[in-house]
Parts: sequence; structure tokens; C-alpha cells
Amino acid sequence: MNFFEKDTKTAIEAIKSAQWIAFAPIVFQASLALRDLGILEAVEAAKTEGLTLDQIVKKTNLPEYGVRVLVEAGLGIGLLTVNKGVYHLTKTGYFILNDAMTKVNMDFTQDVCYEGMFTLQESIKKTKPTGLEVFGKWKTVYEALAHLPSKAQKSWFAFDHFYSDGSFPQVLPILFKHKPKHILDIGGNTGKFTLKCLGYDPNVKMTILDLPGQLNMAKKNIEAAGHIDRANFHEINILDDSQKFPKGADIIWMSQFLDCFSEDEIVSILKRCHEALNENGMVYIMETFWDRQRFKTAAFSLQMTSLYFTNIANGNSQMYDSAVFNKLIDKAGFKILEETDNVGISHTIQVCVKK
Ligand SMILES: C[S@@+](CC[C@H](N)C(=O)[O-])C[C@H]1O[C@@H](n2cnc3c(N)ncnc32)[C@H](O)[C@@H]1O
Repeated sequence: MNFFEKDTKTAIEAIKSAQWIAFAPIVFQASLALRDLGILEAVEAAKTEGLTLDQIVKKTNLPEYGVRVLVEAGLGIGLLTVNKGVYHLTKTGYFILNDAMTKVNMDFTQDVCYEGMFTLQESIKKTKPTGLEVFGKWKTVYEALAHLPSKAQKSWFAFDHFYSDGSFPQVLPILFKHKPKHILDIGGNTGKFTLKCLGYDPNVKMTILDLPGQLNMAKKNIEAAGHIDRANFHEINILDDSQKFPKGADIIWMSQFLDCFSEDEIVSILKRCHEALNENGMVYIMETFWDRQRFKTAAFSLQMTSLYFTNIANGNSQMYDSAVFNKLIDKAGFKILEETDNVGISHTIQVCVKK
């Protein structure tokens, strides 16, 4: 679906959008403050009765001036309404306060991206994740992950897991249709998907490939779940293309993984999959392509997430347009056998075989 073909806005709507952009960082910080300082929660708890400014001040123990500027900002943003001095929560306010996806996205934006994004223009010019310097001297966020400050780490994992976790239950029957004996989970992270597979099929063997920090977390989680006997852990820095993959798997699974790499790096990874895979083996790719979304808002979220890759993650990857991505699959010697869109919240699963 092409959402972006025509400019359908009137001039009034366009200038309104332009002001939203001009004040976007303030809109964001004000909304976060209204959420985290308990103002939205207090107004919601008052239900249809609503609260006056004085009542909000009493319930939150905040200075009156601060509450006044925030609730007035909340009116402009559309989180609150006011009628005869009584404030009520809007539907948008409700979602900011209660919607799990919105919370995960907001926390990720604030705790992982916000400070770094100040250097976005530099990242673009240098193809380097200059925003990552906020957290220290790292080449990529993946090397930094096990060492991030706890708030940033928690928000990173919550964001990552929110999207992939929702898709895993739908994926398992598709993956196990072919009764695989051995699956490589490349970029297996903390072992969540590997654990699901080990639980789903008592005979399957799993090998996780990842950086040492993540592999250690995965090992702990799989040991704690009592499945360590059927799990292998293969430390790898996939950016070093002399590092090959273990051979003999029937299925290679890569979820939310290839978007962490540039086009050339994706081709290199897929070529190594080609070498490692059994002759009739299959590569399962689960990705979020912005052009494959049902809703424009989902495409918007992915287009913004791309800039996290530019500024924080690695400087050179993105949430791809499937047309760009599919050329890389072809270049690496694979063809797409099957594709399923709208898996979980926003994923596409591509089943690839050797050409
Ligand atoms: C976005 S996470 C996806 C995790 C998981 N597959 C999921 O669906 O939630 C990407 C994973 O790729 C791993 N990764 C990134 N760069 C890597 C590299 N150079 N070598 C090995 N693994 C890497 C990260 O450590 C992380 O676990």
C-alpha cells in the first residue's frame, strides 16, 4: 500500500502539522511529565467528575505554577479537556497513560534516543551512530547493550521484546511445519525465541549466535528454564565476514535482526547463511517493513525507528522498504518461497530457499 503518494492536506492542516513539528520535543517532554508526575493518572482516577487545578495540585504535591503550565500544555496537545475549570482526560490522554505499545515507544524514545538525537545531522553526514556517545565509546549499541545504564537497558529490551514477543506464538506452527531437527537462531538475544522453540518441540536442537554479552544472558535464561541440554551458544561478531556460521541446520531464523545491518552487510550475512544451510534448508526472516503495514501510523513508527539505527544503533541500517530488502535476498543467492504479512503487530515472515 502506498500511503505517501499524494499531499492531501489543506493549507490550514499543513501549517498545523508544521507547528506540531516545530514544538515536537516540547510536546514530547510535556506529555512525559504529565504521565510521569502522576497528573494524567490523578485526572483519570477522578473519572467523569474530573479535577480542578487546585485538586490536581493537592493530589500530586507539585507546585501550582508547574501543574498549571503542564495542564495548559495538555490542552494544546490534546491530552486533557477543560470545562468550567474542571479537567478531564481525552482518549489520547488515556492511551498515553495506559496503552502498552505507547508506553514502550515513549520510554524507548526518552531513555535510549532523546539525548543522542541532538546529533542526528552529524550521524547522517558521517554514517556513524554519534548519539551513542551519550552512553560511552562503543561502535554499535549491540556491543553496549549489556553495559547500558539500567533504565536505558530496560527500555531497549522492552521495546525490542514488545514487538517480537507478540509474533512468536504465530510463528511456531509455521516454522515447525517442516519438522526441523536443528535451528540456528541468529541474533537470538536473551534466548526468548529459542526457549519457545525448545518448549514447543521436545526433539529440536537450537543454536543461538550472538555477541558475548547477549549470549551470556541467553545462557542464564535457558539454564534456568532447564533446557540447556538441547541448546548451543555460538559467540560471533557477524560484522567480521571471516566468521562463518555452524553448518548442518535445517532452518536459520533471523527475527528483527537484518534491520541491524547495512545493505552490504545483509548480503554478506545471507551469503554465509547460504554456505551453512543444508541443501534443502530454509531461511526464515521476520522483519518489519514500513511499506507492508496496514496502517499509516505503523509505517510512521517504523520510519522514525530507522533514525534510531542512524543515530544510536550503528549509523547505517534501518527498518527497510521491502523492495530494497528483497533485492538483497536475491543478490545473496536466495529466492522467496513464501511471504506472510501482518504477523503480530507489524511483522512480515519471509521463507527463503537457495535459488
Ligand atoms: C534487535 S535485536 C533482535 C533480537 C531477537 N531476535 C528478537 O527478535 O527480539 C538484534 C540482535 O542482534 C544481535 N547483534 C547485533 N549486532 C551483532 C553482531 N555484530 N554480531 C552478532 N550479533 C549481533 C544483538 O546482540 C541482538 O541480540
